Amino acid sequence: MCGIVGYVGPQDARDVVLEGLRRLEYRGYDSAGIAVLADGSLATAKKAGKLANLEKVLAETPLPSATTAIGHTRWATHGGPTDRNAHPHVSADGSVAVIHNGIIENFASLRAECEATGIEFLSETDTEVAAHLLAAAYREAPEGEGRLAEAMRAVCRRLEGAFTLVATHVAEPDTLVAARRSSPLVVGSGRTADGTAEYFLGSDVAAFIGHTRNALELGQDQVVEIDRTRGVSVTDFGGAAAEPVAYTVDWDAAAAEKGGYGWFMLKEIAEQPQAVADTLLGRLGAHGELVLDEVRLSDQELRDIDKIFVVACGTAYHAGLIAKYAIEHWTRIPVEVEVASEFRYRDPVLDRSTLVVVISQSGETMDTLMALRHARDQKARVLAICNANGSTIPRESDAVLYTHAGPEIAVASTKGFLTQVVACYLVGLFLAQVRGMKFEDEVASIVEDLRKLPDAVAQVLAEMEPVRELARSLADADTILFLGRHVGFPVALEGALKLKELAYIHAEGFAAGELKHGPIALIDQGTPVVVVVPSPRSRESVHGKVVSNIQEVRARGALTIVIAEEGDEDVVPYADHLIRVPRTPTLLAPVVTTVPLQVLACEIADTRGLDVDQPRNLAKSVTVE
Ligand code: F6R
Repeated sequence: MCGIVGYVGPQDARDVVLEGLRRLEYRGYDSAGIAVLADGSLATAKKAGKLANLEKVLAETPLPSATTAIGHTRWATHGGPTDRNAHPHVSADGSVAVIHNGIIENFASLRAECEATGIEFLSETDTEVAAHLLAAAYREAPEGEGRLAEAMRAVCRRLEGAFTLVATHVAEPDTLVAARRSSPLVVGSGRTADGTAEYFLGSDVAAFIGHTRNALELGQDQVVEIDRTRGVSVTDFGGAAAEPVAYTVDWDAAAAEKGGYGWFMLKEIAEQPQAVADTLLGRLGAHGELVLDEVRLSDQELRDIDKIFVVACGTAYHAGLIAKYAIEHWTRIPVEVEVASEFRYRDPVLDRSTLVVVISQSGETMDTLMALRHARDQKARVLAICNANGSTIPRESDAVLYTHAGPEIAVASTKGFLTQVVACYLVGLFLAQVRGMKFEDEVASIVEDLRKLPDAVAQVLAEMEPVRELARSLADADTILFLGRHVGFPVALEGALKLKELAYIHAEGFAAGELKHGPIALIDQGTPVVVVVPSPRSRESVHGKVVSNIQEVRARGALTIVIAEEGDEDVVPYADHLIRVPRTPTLLAPVVTTVPLQVLACEIADTRGLDVDQPRNLAKSVTVE
């Protein structure tokens, strides 16, 4: 949430920061702003609405060129999305500009304290207190090198909550100072063509991958000073030197571009075969065994597990629901799945033999991070399934399995989701293998099925024209219902979520068997109902039951949209629209059945003239609780 960019170096900092903001706009788009330090003073421009509004302001009234600048795209928490509340915020004496991501929980008392000294606040944000406090702390800090960093440490020691702060001070024109507590921040260091050093700050690496792949990951409660001549130095909030972790970003800049697609989401949907293949790459052994070297838990620790919790939010939670079916089936270990925002507040029973699997594309979702910290406090082992390298969740977990989806820019998760599901399969199978729950040939046979998934997804994508056509005809629907059983149930939930968030159409996903217990009353003449049909080869005639459910809704006037595997003729008489997917083993089917639902939601939103990549009220990475 909120995009943060900073630059110090020889290039025109205005351009570098604006480019970074364009790449980070998906993190929040209520307002945007930029501050440059030029000729010994700060100049700012800020505007409510999308970045395009700020760009228009800058085109009409350009800021002076500078070599130090900070920029921000906002997802409002305290104070509405107005020009005044947009960041950067400047201290009353005009010396400091600050951008912020997170929530300063004790801002009310700090604000009162500032007001008591005669400071008049210009915004309703929690952030503005940081600007005033920082200006005051700077005046108190010893003169000389590192003064702004010292002031930042003093301020951070007083702040409660989660925050990333980036500040610039008129007296230190070649320096940026930043701090982080439970909110994301990465440092990039590069060189221009003539070898001059330049430095970047970003909420994530997308802010600067066009310039450098050399990144530094900061730890909790750390302050970083980046200075054109002195370079990068990191301390904790007390001032003790700290060593940041250096890593090389393996995403390239082109991966974060639209590449000819109208929407990032369309591009990311199209990238799914590759993303699934990349997530499997190197993890399926030549003899059909699982090779998960990066899971840093010993075989003995894995054998000792007697309960698994899967904890995540939103779409990632749906991946967790699918994981439950697969992991329980393959390992016979009980699995509970929970939304992260509820998990830690209900005092779950956790101990050393509990494995908590946290799933997060961004690796920064605050609810998930807090759940993981709670689990570790209770001595449970935590395994993260994550896409963003260098993010907080994998760093704080005992073990990590990265999905290799590449950057996901569209706010609605697509390839992130599919690769999370695949990673969950890998975890389940690996556990089964280590614990001897499956014979080698059984694991090998499922591994063979996993290898076929990228092609199966590609096949679904090649046949999406009828879905696009259908989407156009559904654009005026008031409500669309989604039904599924077994692993089709979480797929139904995911289809409904995608539609809600992108098309702003009321949608709900149901376990098909639950329909008769109430929701069937919603069905009226022409109500579209999407049904995810399991394979006819699925266990215990789930297939037959779903076919009956289709008939039930149709008998009550529903317009049935049926997703069924090739060769399933039983559904034909009851399907007003039939979407075919390739034959896939039941547990793996979500990887193919989800794809038409993504396309459907995306196309309905597009037909309704909505912004598919940046739906209203949302942000990509939810870094507040
Ligand atoms: C929906 C969506 C969100 C995220 C959720 C968790 O399309 O993208 O529901 O899945 O906010 O995000 P991560 O996976 O980054 O923790």
